[in-house]
Amino acid sequence: MKALILAGGLGTRLRPLSCTRPKILFPIANVPLIDLTLERLASNSVVESVLAVNFMAEKLQHTLGCSKHGMKLTYSRDAPISSSKQHAQRALGTGGPVKQAERILGSKEPFFVMNGDILSKANYAIMMEEHKSAGCVATIALARVTNPSRYGIVKVGSNRRIESFIEKPVSQAGSALVNAGIYVFEPEIFDYIPVNKKCSLERAVFPRLADEGRLLGYKIENLWVDVGKPEDYIVGNKLWIKASGISAIPRAVIDSRVQIEDAVAIDEGVTLGEESILGPNLSLGKGVRVGKRVLIRDSIVFPNTIISNSATIEGSIIGESVTIERDVKIKGGCLIGDNALIQEGITLPKNVKICPSVTISESVEESHCMT
Ligand code: GDD
Ligand code: MG
Repeated sequence: MKALILAGGLGTRLRPLSCTRPKILFPIANVPLIDLTLERLASNSVVESVLAVNFMAEKLQHTLGCSKHGMKLTYSRDAPISSSKQHAQRALGTGGPVKQAERILGSKEPFFVMNGDILSKANYAIMMEEHKSAGCVATIALARVTNPSRYGIVKVGSNRRIESFIEKPVSQAGSALVNAGIYVFEPEIFDYIPVNKKCSLERAVFPRLADEGRLLGYKIENLWVDVGKPEDYIVGNKLWIKASGISAIPRAVIDSRVQIEDAVAIDEGVTLGEESILGPNLSLGKGVRVGKRVLIRDSIVFPNTIISNSATIEGSIIGESVTIERDVKIKGGCLIGDNALIQEGITLPKNVKICPSVTISESVEESHCMT
């Protein structure tokens, strides 16, 4: 069985962190999201995964190589290599890359397609079985959410057939079943997508299949999060740490006076200063150095960042090799790009974004983006 992973989006909602790494390389409990996805596909009998790449294609190919978890990895680009700088213009959307990979995916058996930014413990093997026994062109996994307007909303009829599919409706209150971004397609799907053109599965293909009664829904009851938005990324990281039973006590150097609240993932080579309080809901990447009397909660810190004495960080994502000097306070919703420097005593109010390698030496206004 083969799978195609849509991995070419710009990751705009995670900027500036996504300026220096594609979304699928963002760490979840200190492991790149794509590793978790590939591991799950491999354990569900997938033998080859195709990465549909565009934005930062070279970086992805270089990082992931040509095999993982015993699976062959191949790459299918939206834009030809020669024009990769124009990736925004050449983006094929969510449907075009499926058609682009037609030759690799083949015409003999059904295959998986999934959004690359999905964190899930869904059972793909059962989904495939249900798809095969229902005889539809496509099966889409469904999740129940309380804030449905940023998803594709479905109405399910008899025999689990999807009767309507509406992508991101302007107003939709209350909980709803939504497209979870994990699909099984018959090769017949290629007839629904134009060649070498931008095409949206959600706006062009699924509504048509729903009208024809050839779209099946498969409900996911296990963990499912789209980590493409900062707040959802932090929640997804927390749920993954909890669901995977990751121990807070790592191979890190921990002073006995450090307090660790639950759901914390600490990677190798982390050092923690005395009287610091870490967690709940926190990941500290490889080689992160935390000073004394530091407080960090509901946050994700990428590798090799330095957090100096008496700093406080809440509800934020801190990039790689960032330096946070002493007495800095970082309030909720902040995103700090790689190699940034936040100087002593600075308070970052809510929702501040700091671009890579920027130095902050003066106070910043709420919701500001520092370039
Ligand atoms: N190769 C390629 N080319 N990949 C792309 C492109 C492109 O032009 N555009 C987007 N992608 C990839 C993204 O990298 C991501 O993995 C996936 O396609 C979906 O794009 P998002 O930008 O994350 O979409 P979304 O989160 O707003 O909505 C989608 O996911 C929801 C579930 O989380 C839709 O499929 C919704 O219907 C769905 O409910
Ligand atoms: Mg998404």
